[in-house]
Amino acid sequence: MSSKPIWVLGAGQLGAMLKHAGMPLALDVRPVDINESSAPSLANDDLVTAEREQWPETLVTLTLAQHALFVNKPIFGRLADRKTQKELIDSLGLATAPWRNVAGDITASELRNKLGERVLLKRRTGGYDGKGQYWLRAVDDEVPADWQGHSIAEQAIAFDEEVSLVGIRNRAGQCIFYPLTLNLHLNGILYASVAPLARLQQLQQHAETMLGKLLNELEYVGVMAMECFRVGNQLMINELAPRVHNSGHWTQAGASISQFEYHLRAIADLPTPKAQILGHNVMINLIGTEYNVKWLNLPVAQVYWYGKDVLPGRKVGHINLVSRDVQDLRATLQQLSYLLPEQYYKEAISWSLKALEDVA
Ligand SMILES: Nc1ncnc2c1ncn2[C@@H]1O[C@H](COP(=O)(O)OP(=O)(O)O)[C@@H](O)[C@H]1O
Ligand SMILES: [Mg+2]
Repeated sequence: MSSKPIWVLGAGQLGAMLKHAGMPLALDVRPVDINESSAPSLANDDLVTAEREQWPETLVTLTLAQHALFVNKPIFGRLADRKTQKELIDSLGLATAPWRNVAGDITASELRNKLGERVLLKRRTGGYDGKGQYWLRAVDDEVPADWQGHSIAEQAIAFDEEVSLVGIRNRAGQCIFYPLTLNLHLNGILYASVAPLARLQQLQQHAETMLGKLLNELEYVGVMAMECFRVGNQLMINELAPRVHNSGHWTQAGASISQFEYHLRAIADLPTPKAQILGHNVMINLIGTEYNVKWLNLPVAQVYWYGKDVLPGRKVGHINLVSRDVQDLRATLQQLSYLLPEQYYKEAISWSLKALEDVA
């Protein structure tokens, strides 16, 4: 089997991991840096996908986004704008944090009247890893001028925890889902994920119904992630990502078909059976952390290093840990804690160990 190229708009770590996932299937996946000075030359039957939901206009993005076989083309803009994303969620009657559009010189007190005391502004486009957020704090805190007309306001949700569901819709319209993943975000950045967890199973069906409705409404093809807040027994959608997602990285080690391979299989119209889950999984993000070759001494640690400059708060890699034996996984996490900056032990590792108490 030889395949037509699958071009990826963007050449960050997600594009690299898509390319990696395509190799065993001889899928010719080609991530493209959006700032390349020359545009790739595409054949009519090449496929195009994206590792990001938003992009500036460049020679490369214009070329790729105009291609007739750019999968999910109309969906990116709709989900990349938090206003139209929220409108979609509302139109399907799915639970989400109450919100208002920030426009027409709406004041902070009007927003508080409608949404409650604690209000979070989110820029309509361009935010990620907690960037593009602004809490209206003090009572006299007004909406900053440059956020008027460019943001939505959300009610602060006092959630118990954050979970996500990664789903796949194939070209025949069938949906497949991974188990719900428990996520730790600190300052808006994902630090760790744990999956599967028995105690989340009772929410699985409901979560699948929610994401299934969205996937079908959009006639989406490929992988989409739904981030949720768990409040008691209820799920509330926080946001959607029309792409492979950081909270699905554990599937590289922990599932018989990873999210990256599923995305490629779906868009290339290859079979998409339900993946088997291979054990208990923890994914630790490496954030602003220097590379440590000693990570490679841990037999079950699957290290992904993105080769980027290390900057504070920047995702520079992740480590997947999988084991059928939860005690073994806990022991590896303890070992890993000595090989990471202290803050990891205090936060991400201790949080993961606690989450795993549920599966023992
Ligand atoms: N309405 C909210 N109430 C409380 N916390 C929130 C709310 N919205 C977002 N957050 C927190 O901020 C994090 C990042 O927000 P999110 O909307 O997911 O943006 P990003 O694109 O940066 O991931 C969330 O994972 C959550 O921890
Ligand atoms: Mg998010």
